[in-house]
Amino acid sequence: MDISDLISRLTLDEKITLLIGKDSWSTEPVPRLGIPSIRVSDGPHGLRYESRPVEGGPSYITEATCFPTSSALAATWDMDLIREIGAAMAEEAAGLGVDVILGPGTNIKRTPVCGRNFEYFSEDPFLAGECAAAYIAGVQDRGVGTSLKHFAANNQELGRTSVSVEVDERTLREIYLRPFEIAVRKSQPWTVMCSYNRLAGIYASENAFLLDRVLRHDFGFQGLVLSDWGAVHDRAKALTASLELEMPHGSGSFENLKAALANGEITEAEIDRAVASLLRLVEKAVEGRRRRPKASDRTAHRALARAAALQAVTLLKNDGSLLPLNPASVTSLAVIGRFAKDPMIQGGGSAFVTTKSIEGALETMQEHAVKAKIRLDYEPAYSSWAEAPGLEATHEAQLVAEKADCAVVFVGTGHRVESESFDRAGIRLNPDLERLILMTAAMNPRTVVVVQAGSAIDMSAWIDKVKAVVFAWFGGEAGGPAVADVLFGAANPCGKLAETFPLRLEDTPSFDTYPGDGNHTWYREGLFVGYRHYDSMGTGVLFPFGHGLSYTSFLYADLRVTPDAVGAPGSVTVACSVTNTGDRRGSEIVQVYVGESTPRVVRPTKELKGFVKIELDPGEKGEVRFALTPRDFAYWNASLAAWHVQSGTHRIFVGSSSRDIRLEAKIAVAQGPDFS
Ligand code: GLC
Repeated sequence: MDISDLISRLTLDEKITLLIGKDSWSTEPVPRLGIPSIRVSDGPHGLRYESRPVEGGPSYITEATCFPTSSALAATWDMDLIREIGAAMAEEAAGLGVDVILGPGTNIKRTPVCGRNFEYFSEDPFLAGECAAAYIAGVQDRGVGTSLKHFAANNQELGRTSVSVEVDERTLREIYLRPFEIAVRKSQPWTVMCSYNRLAGIYASENAFLLDRVLRHDFGFQGLVLSDWGAVHDRAKALTASLELEMPHGSGSFENLKAALANGEITEAEIDRAVASLLRLVEKAVEGRRRRPKASDRTAHRALARAAALQAVTLLKNDGSLLPLNPASVTSLAVIGRFAKDPMIQGGGSAFVTTKSIEGALETMQEHAVKAKIRLDYEPAYSSWAEAPGLEATHEAQLVAEKADCAVVFVGTGHRVESESFDRAGIRLNPDLERLILMTAAMNPRTVVVVQAGSAIDMSAWIDKVKAVVFAWFGGEAGGPAVADVLFGAANPCGKLAETFPLRLEDTPSFDTYPGDGNHTWYREGLFVGYRHYDSMGTGVLFPFGHGLSYTSFLYADLRVTPDAVGAPGSVTVACSVTNTGDRRGSEIVQVYVGESTPRVVRPTKELKGFVKIELDPGEKGEVRFALTPRDFAYWNASLAAWHVQSGTHRIFVGSSSRDIRLEAKIAVAQGPDFS
């Protein structure tokens, strides 16, 4: 494609139509010059392909594989797996002629009430960035594009289209922009989607600091910037800020650009630059269409969805090793709660996937129970999910709970509670579900709770009354069997939290400032988001960032940090051994945190800088290694407008979670050159 030749042959009107969506899901073609339309489609965890067979008629969402949502994928800490899911998504996109998947979303989980937390990866920018980069690589390796979103600082749904986020630049760089920087530098998404909100009073769609200075100049982004749907307020101002494609079609935008050109507000050179970027996207799509998979193996995708859901399952509590269920001590089992049969598998909004093949845990639990000769009784106990599950037939549920050796209660939130366009009012479960847990625990001291949700839950009302808690996340269409495998020991859980579960919402660092005053929201907690807050302040938490139990145990030893003093711009290798000291094969996610001992600027006590997932047989010893670069010791110095490493001693923490530190070392770091 000779882009400059095409630009020279396009009329001004044709150029302008290329910068404004044709409709909700595609760009304008220019048939006379062989420029095709580009087709885009949601959803990060499954394709949400909307079609309207008859103009003005009803729209339909094509059925697709519903994978575990992004918060579940992050809990796997498995980048190869996330990349595989990206590839599978690309296969299904290719089958429907979709050129760009509108995902992944990688906004930081600033508050656990954010309605879209199920769609985001983590409270930690490094983990969030790595997950996003893996997803993008998986999709784009198959010739389909992605749209990294929502750029930037879209961390609440309440007032998202107008609220102005007020945050200092160091916090912006180190926390809210960092996931996007990692994903752009590692995987170069074909597109980046700007967010709805304002940043320091300027809409993201018109924010040249964000879209040009940061994204293109500092991060080296080479793709196209498109708007979130309806996020453009003034098409000419957006163009000047280097937003190249308005989505969806914006009525009046054509005239807006023509008038702005006529009055000198914009130039044809600016239009040409945006058109060139659009044509480069077309070029990628045309090239991608040639190498996309021709078939989509939905059976394989469902198996992958189940495997991913299994890796995400996070065992939060397991007193007395009640799990896995042991037929020697559990001969009868009560399964309580409709979500065992009709699970909550995803959140709501533009990411919602239509799938017909949803499987609950119950059927697989019954299969396991038959093999283990365990009697299983099931009681739904509450109605199907309306606004809130009305408790019913709890008497029957109590009876089976009382008679059984063990009771498993299924609870959760669902797409009517966790969704785009609104935030949760709080982070406790529906009171009826809390009551059901308490009733069951009162009947049976060996109660297990399975939670299907997309983000942190306050469990303080019942956590001390139950023996075990299994967090299933929104596990997608095949999450149910995965949970059943964990409960019966057919699989060893290895998921770990990518977000802190606080004891209560009032403890969260954004509690006093969220949601703002309706016009502004001030990120007064600064850098201290998630575990950065709790660990620096020594605040108690329900379950820490990085936490997740296993049916086996792991011993960390022999920490080596070489060199133990690093001059700039050297790098540091951190290594240690990990031994499976239990009696069954299992995976451990080893985490490395770094923290400056006596910083001369405010810094969190520790920050995640590396992780490795290792699978070991009983008794097997493995070696894990991490490479730390000067960037891992740096902070953003706003007055220098650069990343700065100051000389000093840093502590290296190697742990099983942010609070379960197994090994520690110190390293002398010399001041190095600043870098962008
Ligand atoms: C929505 C969402 C965005 C989605 C887009 C298209 O408002 O914010 O994530 O991709 O519009 O549905």
